[in-house]
Amino acid sequence: MCGIVGYLGDGNVYDILIKGLHRLEYRGYDSAGVALVGNDGKINIFKTKGKVSNLEAFCADKNLESKVGIAHTRWATHGEPSDTNAHPHFSEDGNIAIVHNGTIENYKLLKDALEQHGCKFHSETDTEVLAQLIEYIRVTNNCSLLSAVRQALHQVVGAYAIAVLEKNNPDTIIAARQSSPLVIGIGENEYFLASDASPFVEYTKSCVYLKDGEIAEIRRGEPLKITNLANEEAEIDVTKLEMSISQLEKGGYPHFMLKEIFEQPSTLRDCIRGRVVADGTHININGVNDNKEVFLNAKRIVIVACGTSWHAGLLGKYLLQDMCRIPVVVEYASEFRYSNPVITPDDVVIAISQSGETADTLAAIQIAKKAGAFVFGISNVVGSSIPRETYSGCYIHVGPEIGVASTKAFTGQVMVLTLLSLAIAQLRGTMDEETIAKVGKSILKIPSYVKKVLKLNEQIERLSLIFTYARNFLYLGRGYSYPVALEGALKLKEISYIHAEGYPAAEMKHGPIALIDQEMPTVIIAPQDHLYDKIVSNVQQVKARGGKIVAIVNEGDTVIRNLADHVLEVPEMPECLTPIITSIPLQLLSYYIAINKGKDVDMPRNLAKSVTVE
Ligand code: F6R
Repeated sequence: MCGIVGYLGDGNVYDILIKGLHRLEYRGYDSAGVALVGNDGKINIFKTKGKVSNLEAFCADKNLESKVGIAHTRWATHGEPSDTNAHPHFSEDGNIAIVHNGTIENYKLLKDALEQHGCKFHSETDTEVLAQLIEYIRVTNNCSLLSAVRQALHQVVGAYAIAVLEKNNPDTIIAARQSSPLVIGIGENEYFLASDASPFVEYTKSCVYLKDGEIAEIRRGEPLKITNLANEEAEIDVTKLEMSISQLEKGGYPHFMLKEIFEQPSTLRDCIRGRVVADGTHININGVNDNKEVFLNAKRIVIVACGTSWHAGLLGKYLLQDMCRIPVVVEYASEFRYSNPVITPDDVVIAISQSGETADTLAAIQIAKKAGAFVFGISNVVGSSIPRETYSGCYIHVGPEIGVASTKAFTGQVMVLTLLSLAIAQLRGTMDEETIAKVGKSILKIPSYVKKVLKLNEQIERLSLIFTYARNFLYLGRGYSYPVALEGALKLKEISYIHAEGYPAAEMKHGPIALIDQEMPTVIIAPQDHLYDKIVSNVQQVKARGGKIVAIVNEGDTVIRNLADHVLEVPEMPECLTPIITSIPLQLLSYYIAINKGKDVDMPRNLAKSVTVE
């Protein structure tokens, strides 16, 4: 979490940094700050609690002239959100300033040692410890900033992406990473650095993704130099960015979340492109084609992910088991990593992550690799850590997702898992050609079907008004609709702060049925699938206890229509494709309920999009 930005060049440093912070605000918005080396030869730090807009107001009357600067938007880990705990942090003598994304696990030990040497601390953060440590080493060993950073990082345990400025050396930024992302943009006579490439996409398309354990020396007028912690020179691998500026703007929508919900016909088209071929009769996934033996011989698939990506993973289990007849287990990466998991070289581990940076998912990948499993990644962010750490994988290609609540990434992940399952089934011969072609042809229709579902927008907006003040929600589904229920409940709670629980519909009678009354709406996902008759019984059980029912059904449904208080009709699809269709009305329902409650849907409280801490 946290976003960092840096700029060294002749452009307007402050404006570039602030624009960059706005783009990275999805990573945390507890506080924001900038450090600028002013023309007076001092490092000036301006920082405030709250969002980047607060920082802008705070800076309105300040002298912001500078040729180099670093900036930060924070998701608090050590120390409450406050002006003092906001980054950047100074060393005590004011000689160096630092911004940091990550956590220094042994910060207490380092802090105690520095205090014994007379260092005084002003904040509760682990980052200030790093600033003081670097400066302490620089002064004690009378060495360069680069050398002091390298020596300090040898003492540090934890995750970091850092950028460091030195007062007496205004033509340099030193940056380094370990387990937190950092990318350097190379322009004409200017350098950018950031947690992802969005802050500099309009200035340059050339960038270098720093690898773990690398330190970059960014110096005015000199080529970029990268070394590792052992001071060996590293290769500089320049990548061309594919991101465009329009993908980072709201394009007329009031919120990124709504824009991203409405983008789904085109994001799903991009996700499918080139993967469903020969008129829908063949599925082409490079990661499967290139590793046929692995998928032919796999004895088990283990899916690891967090949050919404875990919900997509649970759908992956239904899809892979159904289509490929391989046993599948789905684990929260955060639990998996500490559960002493039994993984063998016969396992294929699939790691799913929109950001490609989730710390727990990355840790799970390392464990799986160590145990000899083949690790396959499903991610959205090109060049992020998970695609680089996995042996093979598949991008979902839905473009940057900026709203903190995941929408288009979820449907992209489910689409990729569906395609992956079909491709493996094709390879293993566990599905006949006719059925594959039937599903393949339906997949090609998904973008137009999703467009149709989005026409429910106004109906859902009206419906949301009825439920704005509900205090609890229950979401029920069976089979493929069960993970959709979990995801619907998560969407509602994270942006509207209403308590919501997703449950397998038949499990309701083993406990949650006690909660049902007129005050608690139940959302039931009930497309015409092989469990339809079963879920009708569950609808009746809720109805018999006076519960208010919102049902997602297929067009033309008459049975549930007569039982539910409100129905939202979606087009019928083969069963394995229904989750993509039924999850969209739930995204819209959460969005409008949160809007009615006046919540900040793009930046819900306490959350951040990229969870790079444990
Ligand atoms: C919820 C949401 C989170 C993420 C989770 C994992 O809307 O977005 O639950 O799904 O933090 O993030 P990634 O997919 O980036 O690993």
